Amino acid sequence: MADAFIPVTSPGENYQSHKGAITAAISRVLESGRYILGEEVEGFEREFADFHGCAHCIGVANGTEAISLALKACGILPGEEVITVSHTAVPTVAAIEMMGAVPVLVDIEPDSRCMDHRQIPACITEKTRAIIPVHMYGQPCLMREICEVARQNNLYVIEDCAQACGAEISGKRVGTFGDAATFSFYPTKNLGAIGDGGAVLTDNPDIADKVRWLRQYGWKENRDAKIPGMNSRLDEIQAAILRVKLPFLLEENARRRQIADRYSSIMNEVGIQPPWDIPDTVHAMHLYVVECGSRDSLQDFLRQKGIGSALHYPKAVHQQEAYRQIRGWDHLPKTELLYERILTLPMYPELSDGDVERICSVLSEWKGL
Ligand SMILES: Cc1ncc(COP(=O)(O)O)c(C=O)c1O
Repeated sequence: MADAFIPVTSPGENYQSHKGAITAAISRVLESGRYILGEEVEGFEREFADFHGCAHCIGVANGTEAISLALKACGILPGEEVITVSHTAVPTVAAIEMMGAVPVLVDIEPDSRCMDHRQIPACITEKTRAIIPVHMYGQPCLMREICEVARQNNLYVIEDCAQACGAEISGKRVGTFGDAATFSFYPTKNLGAIGDGGAVLTDNPDIADKVRWLRQYGWKENRDAKIPGMNSRLDEIQAAILRVKLPFLLEENARRRQIADRYSSIMNEVGIQPPWDIPDTVHAMHLYVVECGSRDSLQDFLRQKGIGSALHYPKAVHQQEAYRQIRGWDHLPKTELLYERILTLPMYPELSDGDVERICSVLSEWKGL
């Protein structure tokens, strides 16, 4: 019998790992009779803030709105500029445009594949108000350097942590370096819901209050709108599920890194560039993304051997039709080069040692092809 196909990611297997506790958590919500902003959302917000050693967490509907709400809460106005990268999921940029601000793209630094802080000063104008670094694939950005540029230019920093839950720089969790941080709990994320979910993290009580009001019609108290808001609440059932999974996040991230280490141990021998080890950082290993000159033939070969791989985002943001004319699009050579070379290999904590060895042995066969 042929070996089973190994997918790139498998949120269903993560559900199976936590099935009993998830079923109990859902039933707890159903029986409680309170379905919106109840004890589960409150409990998750407290536990997620504590996990980061941070003062405030506000659960919201998804990671895209978390970015828009954080920008609004920082007082960024329509027409003002926000610097980010094109090597990101499109929602980072969509979220900036959703609240009327203007995204400005800078290039990446090829080792971390994250924002190159040295490119930021040249993009700053009198309208620039914020920087959104993205911890791409789980690799922390050079946050100290980015925050220093922000400090010198009086800019807000909002970390997009959607892909990096649990990652660290010098023992400090990502999401605690900027003025605020945003998270997505999309099902494939390291901390994944069974549907949509997101959060904003901050130590700043004013930003926290504003996000809290904005996520529910601008209500401050007694259903009285203090500012114009929207509906972007974290769902009570999703919060209950996230509370089941959060205590296992670090263990699952460690398993991801164990798998990554095994892959990386053979990559040089097969002529594929593994993710670089960036000193003093802990990678969340959301995605294991390699670089390879003959990426398409590698992908074909893996497919024939029953192994999934993906161009996780086939194009940079500025290469997609909706964003072609975006500011900075013509100065992104390193981003563009990266997109010709990247391939995402299977990565999820439930991959068995047998699966990992099978993937390594297929990669070894590819050597020289
Ligand atoms: C880097 C990044 N930012 C933002 C988002 C948006 O999150 P969501 O899908 O929860 O809106 C994602 C998720 O795909 C992401 O990967």
